[in-house]
Amino acid sequence: MKLEQKVAIITGGASGIGRGMALAMAKEGAYVVIVDISEEKGAATEKELNEISRGKFIKADISDRDEIKRIVSETVQTFGKINILVNNAHASKQILFTETKPEDLALSFNTGFYPTFNLMQECFPYLKETKGSVINFASGAGLTGMVTQASYAAAKEAIRGLSRVVANEWGQYQINVNLISPIALSPGVEQWREHFPAAYEETVNKIPLKRMGDCEQDIGRVAVFLASEDSSFITGQTIMVDGGSVMLR
Ligand SMILES: NC(=O)c1ccc[n+]([C@@H]2O[C@H](COP(=O)([O-])OP(=O)(O)OC[C@H]3O[C@@H](n4cnc5c(N)ncnc54)[C@H](O)[C@@H]3O)[C@@H](O)[C@H]2O)c1
Repeated sequence: MKLEQKVAIITGGASGIGRGMALAMAKEGAYVVIVDISEEKGAATEKELNEISRGKFIKADISDRDEIKRIVSETVQTFGKINILVNNAHASKQILFTETKPEDLALSFNTGFYPTFNLMQECFPYLKETKGSVINFASGAGLTGMVTQASYAAAKEAIRGLSRVVANEWGQYQINVNLISPIALSPGVEQWREHFPAAYEETVNKIPLKRMGDCEQDIGRVAVFLASEDSSFITGQTIMVDGGSVMLR
């Protein structure tokens, strides 16, 4: 058990990659708080977590600054500490740059960048106490400048920049801050496959390992590693868990 009795907060933990990480962490003994706007999916994943370890669903919209304080205080009231913070949820609209409106930019920054910033600040005293780990989320869309992803890519690269600064500032407290840049068959990607099957096939063909990642086995297991003692000498890094799609140099 690599995460025995460690307490994790995972935003967007009700479904997709967030759920995959929650299950993988629970199987390593972690107590997992999932934060999500979806009541139905949140309740279902909470039930799954309680069958493995201990889980708690907090229904909250992370773009609401006041909810950030509630998420942290409810977690500490329930489990007494925070070891792992995973900033996973992120919503955005795919649209050409010239058509991107302020509200599109706001959606991406309010669900991706600001909650990552705010939750890191709010969790700091607890992470300092436990010498904890932060896992933030990047994207190949940001790293490669994918078309129609202006608002999303901008927020994702802002998250990467912020993560490097915080990794430098918190190194002295033995708090690790890393990023995962994933590719996985989440419900969000499944929806895209339904609407654009040819583009989906083309994308999979371009992946060197010729398959989509699995939310729990591929992404969840790497999140366990980044939250465990095994990665205690890694910080400020973007870990590509994307079948080799983007090879950093
Ligand atoms: N799936 C991929 O291939 C892929 C590729 C690159 C990057 N990513 C990144 O990985 C992360 C997870 O991706 P995914 O595909 O599992 O996403 P997803 O869209 O399938 O799931 C996101 C979850 O976040 C929740 N959520 C959305 N807005 C919220 C809000 N305001 N407050 C609380 N919860 C909210 C949703 O209800 C959902 O459960 C994201 O940061 C995404 O940008 C994913």
